[in-house]
Amino acid sequence: MNVSVSIVEKESQYIVHTYKRSPFVLEHGEGMFVYDSKGNRYLDFSSGIAVNALGHCDPELVAAVQDQVATLGHVCNLYHTRPQVELAEALCEHSFADKVFYCNSGAEAVEGAIKFARKYSLTHYGPGKTFVAFTGGFHGRTMGALSITAREQYQAPFRPLMPGVTVAPFNDVEAAKELIGPETCAVFVEPVQGEGGIQPANVEFLRALRDLCDQHDALLVFDEIQCGMGRTGKLWAYEHYGVEPDIMVLAKALGGGLPIGAVLVTDRVADVIEPGDHGSTFSAGPVACRAAQVVLDRVSDPAMLAHITAMGELLVERLEELDSRHIKEIRGLGLMVGVEMDCEVAPFIEAAYEQGMILLNAGANVLRLLPAYIVSETDIDQCVFVIQQIITV
Ligand SMILES: Cc1ncc(COP(=O)(O)O)c(C=O)c1O
Repeated sequence: MNVSVSIVEKESQYIVHTYKRSPFVLEHGEGMFVYDSKGNRYLDFSSGIAVNALGHCDPELVAAVQDQVATLGHVCNLYHTRPQVELAEALCEHSFADKVFYCNSGAEAVEGAIKFARKYSLTHYGPGKTFVAFTGGFHGRTMGALSITAREQYQAPFRPLMPGVTVAPFNDVEAAKELIGPETCAVFVEPVQGEGGIQPANVEFLRALRDLCDQHDALLVFDEIQCGMGRTGKLWAYEHYGVEPDIMVLAKALGGGLPIGAVLVTDRVADVIEPGDHGSTFSAGPVACRAAQVVLDRVSDPAMLAHITAMGELLVERLEELDSRHIKEIRGLGLMVGVEMDCEVAPFIEAAYEQGMILLNAGANVLRLLPAYIVSETDIDQCVFVIQQIITV
């Protein structure tokens, strides 16, 4: 039996069916490309859903991970290690934050933020305060993160969820004024919604959220799990808005492929947290932190951020030249680009595989383009050429 058939069959037999996977088996990657078990090459415009910021198997990242795993692979958080402290220092130096809490994934970072916000409001005001989240937002699949992810299809099978969550329409300042008040503990928002169809927040909206949180001593939490770490052409998406949060959650690109998440906080938040309040066995392991040090160092380089901006603009420009009655809108920031269609995009993604191209969706109708930051003009031309082919058939 050929390798890919047997792996696809065994996946169905042995792995819980939470994903509808592609029909091929990926075996190795290099730069912008991945290769399947039959030797087919795919230009990857998904980067592992905004994870592989430096592309596949970046030599500096690989060398750092190899060195670290051969030096000190894992110790738990009862001991000091250099990479976790040096990474936290760099994250704070490059952001609004004073301190960092580490974890292993996006949902786990959101759980941490929910707990820290709850502890802040309990410490200062006692019980009863609630969370505000927004339509179109996505914060993860664990119970707390799911509770602030207002999507019926994700929530319905798992109710009851965490109580005390109010959902407001995204980008609606007046509705936010109605819903954020003295009873609000924290407001969770993605500055650029990813899963929600690549929807950037309006400047007035994020500024209004900041003002409302200040007015009511609620914590403003930015979920930059997808839009942070350089993806939008600035290191943090919030820099486009001139608005800083009290808490920011990161994961995805932070480790460049190694699992690591982080909750960045101001001292005002950190001051209410005590030993034993929260933790995680695997978090801030030396290997993941070494990887993240390499990624942060590379993506915070102004030349890299300028490249992301230039390539993002070029991608949008080329997409706008496409001739298709199906395209409704092209939007995005940096290398986070959505093409909204008047039809379902799943068949286009299947067709792109045949053309050696990996694309993503965001919801049913949006093609989502999240290439690695090393993307070139040639890659963009190829991507747009393939999109033209698949949407005109
Ligand atoms: C904005 C945002 N928050 C949270 C998550 C959850 O991250 P993870 O899948 O690592 O749990 C995601 C994942 O897509 C995301 O895009």
